[in-house]
Amino acid sequence: MQLSVIGCGYLGAVHAACMVSLGHEVVGIDVDPDKIKALANGDAPFFEPGLPELLRTAMGTGRLSFSTDIADAHGAQVHFVCVGTPQKAGSNAADLTYVDASVTSLIPHLRAGDLVVGKSTVPVGTAARLAAQIAAETPGAMLAWNPEFLREGYAVQDTLTPDRFVYGVPEDGSAATALLDTVYAQALAAGTPRIVTDYATAELVKVAANSFLATKISFINAMAELCEVTGADVTELADAIGLDERIGRRFLNAGLGFGGGCLPKDIRAFMARADELGADQAVGFLREVDAINTRRRVRMVDLAREVNGGSVEGKRIAVLGVTFKPNSDDVRDSPALDVAAQLARLGAHVMITDPEGIDNARRRHPHLTYVSTVAEATAGADAVLLLTEWREYRDLDPAVLTKFVSSRTILDGRNALDPAVWRAAGWSYRALGRQ
Ligand code: UDX
Repeated sequence: MQLSVIGCGYLGAVHAACMVSLGHEVVGIDVDPDKIKALANGDAPFFEPGLPELLRTAMGTGRLSFSTDIADAHGAQVHFVCVGTPQKAGSNAADLTYVDASVTSLIPHLRAGDLVVGKSTVPVGTAARLAAQIAAETPGAMLAWNPEFLREGYAVQDTLTPDRFVYGVPEDGSAATALLDTVYAQALAAGTPRIVTDYATAELVKVAANSFLATKISFINAMAELCEVTGADVTELADAIGLDERIGRRFLNAGLGFGGGCLPKDIRAFMARADELGADQAVGFLREVDAINTRRRVRMVDLAREVNGGSVEGKRIAVLGVTFKPNSDDVRDSPALDVAAQLARLGAHVMITDPEGIDNARRRHPHLTYVSTVAEATAGADAVLLLTEWREYRDLDPAVLTKFVSSRTILDGRNALDPAVWRAAGWSYRALGRQ
């Protein structure tokens, strides 16, 4: 099939390359000429395991092209809208500028029978509004909402073999469903479940899923607060409750909490939309989820002060990991970067290292100090803070680190280390939610 992908950021670039690997012909469109130039050269403009190889292979087939001109989407049967819906400045609501602009600029190039597929995370009600606009301006063209659930770091795998497909389609949605079934034929044949539903349900599935995940993380972090005042251990508690299959152990890792470009902004936008709909009480608990999440960052800063005798002023603090999670170069709403910046504001000499995130972190916080290696970051450190659990930091040997630091104090912000190993090596080990 001929497809277009509008918006070649994280979601769109991965989607375009994956669709080519499924045998389709794809044109990727983006307004940013630098991004298009990089992608056309087969270079991924961000770090994502597996994507560079997939992109190069896709370019080699001759079935993937990129353009800044939306007119090049003409001729494709299915058009995926993959643009961002960031948090509006000064508000919790989602900014729909890019979604609206994409659809408006696409409409003149649509033909009857074409299908526009929204993949962006949008406030419930957006799809119905856009469907009406498309129907008024290009009779016969259709809209479906097909939310994306990909995780950074696993984006290729999540796109090619997702847990499920969700299609939000209009009342007589058989033509739209048939087109999407053709696009995803390979995964469907392998048994991936698909749920065909209305627009509002499809839109809500996405924000409900992200709200549930955020709630699960904040739940265990709330338990961590209890563990801290009772001397209990949140990792053992998570193991124990996680063995109940109804609860499950995944997403029960207590620590610095969630960040990134999705969970924080999505739960806030959900609250804002529910408020507009007069249903704010239904999601009032998300305010608490957000508040618990923010408190973890404050607690980490407090712990750093505590182990430094009440103040970090003039202290050398090594920060290991600055991205919002491992296997990503993304620092959007990163708990690690936030903690590092707060410590610097309190007068600490913060030395930050990260395998992939330094360039992005420097763009946001140019005044902070970034170094390439753990050895440089920890040289003369009064405390070492593990804030993003990259594999290489989980595997650190305390005996090696001992050679660099001035004080053997480690704060494990992600409960990623074995306290027994670090204590046996003479370190003072502190963590969030465990003794
Ligand atoms: C998330 C959703 O998982 C994905 O389905 C959706 O499409 C986009 O948002 P992502 O933002 O890539 O994906 O990251 P995710 O792996 O969900 O992690 C989010 C944050 O939660 C990270 O900061 C991570 O460190 C934190 N987290 C995750 C925890 O603190 N504890 C956990 O147990 C799991």
